Amino acid sequence: MKAYKSPEHALTSAQQFLLLEQNSDSHLTKELALLISSITLASKHIALYVKRDGLTDVSEKTNSKNVHGEEVKKLDELADKMLINSLGLNADVAIVSSEENENPVILRESGGKYILFFDPLDGSSNLSSGIAVGTIFSIMEKSKTTYSDPMEIILQPGNRQIAAGYIMYGSSTVLVFTTGKGVHMFTLDPNVGDYLLSRQNMTFPDNGKCYSINEGNAHSFDPGYNKWLDWVKSNEAGPYTGRYIGSMVADFHRTLIQGGVFAYPATKKSPEGKLRLMYEANPIAFIAEQAKGMATNGKSRILDIQPTSLHQRVPLLFGEKKEVEKIMSYIN
Ligand code: AHG
Ligand code: MN
Ligand code: MN
Repeated sequence: MKAYKSPEHALTSAQQFLLLEQNSDSHLTKELALLISSITLASKHIALYVKRDGLTDVSEKTNSKNVHGEEVKKLDELADKMLINSLGLNADVAIVSSEENENPVILRESGGKYILFFDPLDGSSNLSSGIAVGTIFSIMEKSKTTYSDPMEIILQPGNRQIAAGYIMYGSSTVLVFTTGKGVHMFTLDPNVGDYLLSRQNMTFPDNGKCYSINEGNAHSFDPGYNKWLDWVKSNEAGPYTGRYIGSMVADFHRTLIQGGVFAYPATKKSPEGKLRLMYEANPIAFIAEQAKGMATNGKSRILDIQPTSLHQRVPLLFGEKKEVEKIMSYIN
């Protein structure tokens, strides 16, 4: 596709970009463009709350725990509701699964061509500290129109995704997504009230010297990770810089822009890994591969993992291919 070059003064919104892309790539339908717009509409609403934290009580804990036994912030639930409401109005959406709902939300028993997975608020433990948080989404097409158990069509490997993306509520609010034709970034312009194209066809830089891992868990890592950590901090390798935000969306976005590698290995507390396959690892892996990087559980490609349950966790490594392969050379 000839990259659309908007005239100097013109600004391209995410929806315009999707419709332009749609004209040249049949795989991208108007419905998908509209669907992504439903998500970004909800995200603008979520951004309002994130950016005013401290003036409202949304970063306070609810006294409930989610299916993962994790504390839930009011904004976790609110963001979840905003996304489901916005998607519920879209007749093309059949089923929505989210980190905050134990079971999938069946919006339409019949009809609706898409199924969605999302983490409404990623990194919410950072919310009250004013640190970047995010929303992650993953879109698949329904694999069949009739089913007895929704899990038949929900538990699909990540290579079935047709689109994935995230919104990061950071120093700027950015939308990054892929529909399988590269990774594109849009910045929310508060004056316009819309996401405007800011980067196209993003790829990981090829020599970012940044490693991102929670070394507080090093005592329970597989020994290979600690051998890699010794190397990455050695004179021979260096100098690398350690950066760990603790919001995966922000750690991913920094890795995409500055390069390097991220790892959340299995730990004693999370023996399967902490990050969830369907709405954290899969969408991030799709974007990572479209950005010419790599995403693995340390042994195999994230996108090829056949899920066995909706909220299953996986170890997750992503970033520049050679950096991910370096870690794998130590752990395998
Ligand atoms: P969530 O807030 O959706 O539960 O996700 C938090 C995740 C992820 O964003 C981040 O990479 C990871 O938790 C950080 O975990 P640790 O605090 O254990 O490092
Ligand atoms: Mn998360
Ligand atoms: Mn979350």
